[in-house]
This record gives sequence, structure tokens and C-alpha cells, in this order.
Amino acid sequence: MKKTIFMLGIASAILAGCESDEKVENASQEDQISNVSARRSCASDEVLKEQMANDPQLAMKIAKIEAFTQSKLSENFQSRLVNGVIEIPVVVNVLYKTTAENISQAQIQSQIDILNKDFNATNSDFNNVPSAFSGVKANVGIRFVLDQVVRKSTNKTSWGTRDAMKKTAQGGLNPLSPTTKLNLWVCTIGGGILGYAQFPGGSSATDGVVIDSKYFGSTGTATYPYNLGRTATHEVGHWMNLRHIWGDATCGTDFCNDTPSHNTANYGAPAFPHYSTCSGNPIEMTMNYMDYVDDRAMYMFSTDQKSRMLAIFQAGGPRYSFAQ
Ligand code: ARG
Ligand code: ZN
Repeated sequence: MKKTIFMLGIASAILAGCESDEKVENASQEDQISNVSARRSCASDEVLKEQMANDPQLAMKIAKIEAFTQSKLSENFQSRLVNGVIEIPVVVNVLYKTTAENISQAQIQSQIDILNKDFNATNSDFNNVPSAFSGVKANVGIRFVLDQVVRKSTNKTSWGTRDAMKKTAQGGLNPLSPTTKLNLWVCTIGGGILGYAQFPGGSSATDGVVIDSKYFGSTGTATYPYNLGRTATHEVGHWMNLRHIWGDATCGTDFCNDTPSHNTANYGAPAFPHYSTCSGNPIEMTMNYMDYVDDRAMYMFSTDQKSRMLAIFQAGGPRYSFAQ
């Protein structure tokens, strides 16, 4: 009973968070003409909200995952799988109309390399983390291995955020082995969306991450200021159950204790220190991958974010099948 109330509470908090996020998105659409950074909006949370509306069970399922995650955190588990590191095979599905959209193997490999650096604290900007946060900057210890690249020529100019690219029947490509491999779709999304992820708990038929080809990797068609592969780092963070650092609400929660409370998303490359207007006026962790800053301005996950990510791979967790 108590548990049910707790889980319902989390489910409505998630839904409420998404609602306030819509307001943020509307506000940024107004700025769109003058501010390039405002193009970015939260497609991952939008898609989650829509999936929940279509599937009443999903909100409960996600609330259960949150309860599971929280219980694993207090257990203080040790997650160490393949020689101490979780290894994830990655399938890259490329959907193209123009030759530019048919990105090179080198561009694909550059993205895999960036994921490996960012999730293993070997990114060259990791040591730019201010000393205020050096105690909580984390080496997540998850490795990504390019498994295969699937390419398909199509006549679609943009794919939107309703998962058409993930469905062969809609001109896209079905995911390959989605319960054991991370599927990425690289295509033109449109609508100013850089990428979007499916959170743990969703249907395996649509599981994975979509990244616009112009914001994928760090070479070829990768376009400034999102040309360092951090859209994938951010989206894979969502795919591993991380929330936006501002909790998709004014001074909302990302369910991590070691990230400061942010009043809203940050854009561009904020000067340090940037103070929050939330209670206690903490210095915001704008360099966290789960903020909305430019690629060059994000370079760390926190220890609690790491714990949340590792929790989903534990026995009973929603991505345990990847850790086998
Ligand atoms: N706003 C996008 C989303 O969550 C991704 C933002 C990525 N940020 C970046 N600097 N590449 O859907
Ligand atoms: Zn996001």
C-alpha cells in the first residue's frame, strides 16, 4: 500500500516534470530566431510523456524502476561485470536521403570513441571540472563496442520524434537484438531536435537512441556547437535512466544527491561559477552532460549519476540483459 502510494507519487512527479518541461520548450521556441542554442528541446521527455499517455501501464513500470533504483543505491552494490567494466555492443542504423546523411565510417567511429572517453573519464576536458566538483566527478566504467552498421537509402527528408525511423514498416529500420545491443539511429530528425532517447522500461521494439546526423560524432557533417559527440553522451545518459540535471521543472529533482539544484536548463558555455536561484543558491554543475550546454561546455557525470546508471544493469534491473 505504502509502496503503491510512493510509486504513484514518483509517476506523477515524472508526468508533472514533463509538463513543466513543455513550458520551457515553448519559451525557447519564442527565442528560437535570436538564439541558436534555444533550438534544443527535450525530445526524450516529450516522447516518454507520449508513450505514457498511450500506455497506462508504462508510468507504473517506470515508477517501479525508480523504486528499484533507489533500493539499489541504499544497498551500496558493487557492479563489475566484464573485467570490472560493462561492455555494450552498439548497432548504428543510418537512414539517408542525401549523400551527406550517409555519414562515413570515420564519423561513426568518432562517436563510439567519444562515448568511450566520456563514460570512462578519459575525455581530455575531464580535468577542467572545477575543484568544487572534483570530489563527485565520476568514471562510470561502461564500454561501447561498435557491433555493426546498417545503412538504408530512403526518400524521407526528416523523421520527427514518433519513432518512424525505428520501424521497417514505416520506412525505417527495426532495432537489431535490442535487449542485448544498444541501437542508435542516425538520420535527420527535424524540428530543431538534436536527439532523443527511450528511457529504461519502454518497449524493446523502440528501444535505443536517435541522433541527428549533423550532431553525431566529431568529424564529417558534425556541426558546431554540437560537434563533439556529446548529444549521444547525453542521450545514452537518458537511456541509462538519467534525468536532466534541473529535473525538468524549476528547481526540480534529477534523483541524485550530489548534483546541485538547478533552476532551469543552461545553454551555451556558462562562465564559472554560475549560481542557482534555488534554495541555498548553490553553484550549478553546468558542465554536467545532463545539462543543455554546448558540447565543449559539458564534460562530467557525477558519482550518484554513475550509481543510477549501474543500478539498471543489476539483477532485477531493466537493463540486466545487457550485463549477461
Ligand atoms: N536536448 C537534447 C535532448 O535531450 C540533447 C541535448 C544535447 N546537448 C548537447 N550539448 N549536445 O533531447
Ligand atoms: Zn535530454
